[in-house]
Amino acid sequence: MNKANPDLGQVTMLGAHIPDVLGRPVEAIPSGQHSVRLSEIRATAAGTAAGTGVDLAKLGASVYAVGALGVDLLADMVTAAMRKHGVDTGGLIRKQGAQTSATILPIRPNGDRPALHVPGATPLLGLRDIDLEPIRNSRALLIGAPDALAGMTGEDLARIKARTTRTTRTTRANRPPRPRGRRGGHHRLRRPGRHRPGLGRRDRELRPGARLPGRRAAGRGRPDQGAHDMTNDQQLRQRAKAVIPGGMYGHQSAGPLPDAYPQFMRGGRGARVWDADGHEYVDLMCSYGPVVLGHQHPAVEAAAARQAKMGDCQNGPAPVMVDLAELLVATVKHADWAMFARNGTDATTMCCTIARAQTGRRKILVAKGAYHGAAPWCTPKPAGTTAADRANLGHYTFNDLASAQKAAEAAGDDLAGILVSPFKHDAGYDQELVDPAFARGLRALCDQHGAALILDDVRCGFRLHLGSSWEPVGVDPDLSAWSKAIANGRALAAVLGRDAFRGGASDIFVTGSFWFSAVPMAAAVATVNALKEEHAVEAMHRYGTQLRDGIVDQARSWDLAVRYTGPPVMPYLTFAGDRDHELASVFAAQALRGGAYLHPRHNWFVSAAMTGDDLALVLDATDQAFAAVRKHLGQ
Ligand SMILES: Cc1ncc(COP(=O)(O)O)c(C=O)c1O
Repeated sequence: MNKANPDLGQVTMLGAHIPDVLGRPVEAIPSGQHSVRLSEIRATAAGTAAGTGVDLAKLGASVYAVGALGVDLLADMVTAAMRKHGVDTGGLIRKQGAQTSATILPIRPNGDRPALHVPGATPLLGLRDIDLEPIRNSRALLIGAPDALAGMTGEDLARIKARTTRTTRTTRANRPPRPRGRRGGHHRLRRPGRHRPGLGRRDRELRPGARLPGRRAAGRGRPDQGAHDMTNDQQLRQRAKAVIPGGMYGHQSAGPLPDAYPQFMRGGRGARVWDADGHEYVDLMCSYGPVVLGHQHPAVEAAAARQAKMGDCQNGPAPVMVDLAELLVATVKHADWAMFARNGTDATTMCCTIARAQTGRRKILVAKGAYHGAAPWCTPKPAGTTAADRANLGHYTFNDLASAQKAAEAAGDDLAGILVSPFKHDAGYDQELVDPAFARGLRALCDQHGAALILDDVRCGFRLHLGSSWEPVGVDPDLSAWSKAIANGRALAAVLGRDAFRGGASDIFVTGSFWFSAVPMAAAVATVNALKEEHAVEAMHRYGTQLRDGIVDQARSWDLAVRYTGPPVMPYLTFAGDRDHELASVFAAQALRGGAYLHPRHNWFVSAAMTGDDLALVLDATDQAFAAVRKHLGQ
């Protein structure tokens, strides 16, 4: 670290380290042409952090620079300029494939300095890029503009701040307006017991439930709309009602959710999401499963962007399809081959079709109440379907082997396959882990009948285990259906299968205009690799377990009888006797107001982007939520 003047101490500059490319006054404008000749072009280190850093170094401070640059000439120029003045550039990292952010100032002969800003690598800077150790002893931490630091959440900055010593002063460029909480309805109740569970302290200034920093809700207060007291979400709902049947449909319809829930979401990063009005939440639904590494995971986004530059929807699949098939076959023990589609329903339907093609039989057994998708043969709402759509289904009870044996007997020599979920996760009900004896029994039943054992790993795949979810149980299916988490939020599904079913898989005709899209496949390769490299399954399990322990402890301290079921990474909370989910709705609505986005009637999902601060925030919100339930029950 640079020790130019120990009296001024160490300063850390975090943010936009960009070169100002100064075009000096022109000598002459050639007549009849629109080009100008510059007498000189100079590059200087500038930006909210770099320029200030150089100035501080000139004054004698020991300056440490943290930021992201591209691998290009501009980056060489800016680091050289900073080093020349004694700035320690050890915290600047290079982002492959991104250009260096720059400001171009083409100074006009009349002295005007119009600026062109070129956004580049700075917004890609994430917490994982920063070595926190060297900033520990900073006297001052100068943080760049929030819009330039798009890759960092408020909570990331809070973590960096937490790492510095207590005497460190923090300064932010272009400080955003103070976040507005949405904690209305937080009931200050005294719990029955004295114990107050929860994890750690949190930075209240950067809490969820606040407005997205630096952004104003679009359209708010526009007099010509006649809706100045409506939120963006309300306005969007009103418009949607006119052009989308029912206003919204499917599992993402906010209709059945408590009123506090937003219908429309603006975006997400890591474990945080923002609704259309800019309110921030810790995300415990992860887009109903697909987001496993966190929103906008840098390696996945970079892989998708690289592939998108080359091509996505083409006359033939991209080479990455073979890479992905090889990776999945190497990762999932029972897989000898892979086929791809777009949604989970495609994959479960395809598994049934392959089982029928291979065996020449018709009947598929499914567990009563299990969800396998939204096609006519499996949709939970029968409107628009016919009895014939389900004529070839038989039913058994999950974890009840005798019921499966009975259904198999009824199917007789027409049994093509048994479809089963890794555990019982029917929406609205307590979850039930699989009894290994039941899983082994289904395997034996399929072997006995020459039928396919089909595992529907659409919801659990890559969250419970890196192989199939039944690998730890020791049971290999013949076919498995995957989607949701395999591409960290990109639209992709897969069917994996054993060699014994390769023939059936080759015989059927299945396809879709977008089933061969290369971008989701590139994202999937990056997702699987990141899951392995980041030990993501273990991380999710760790945070999921802490979440469970915290919530169960809180429920006890509020003297509320709850059941917290399912694996820690996909938990579900119910209240004793809460048949109509009334208490669950009170709980969820208050948790949402406190900044935790969870669901009253569907299992939740933990992502690997979760941090200790996220967990502390969630537990703070759930504590308020239990208080609201207690109040609802009349103490
Ligand atoms: C277990 C299971 N199978 C199949 C599906 C259908 O997947 P998709 O909605 O992608 O069609 C889902 C979706 O939630 C699911 O949870």
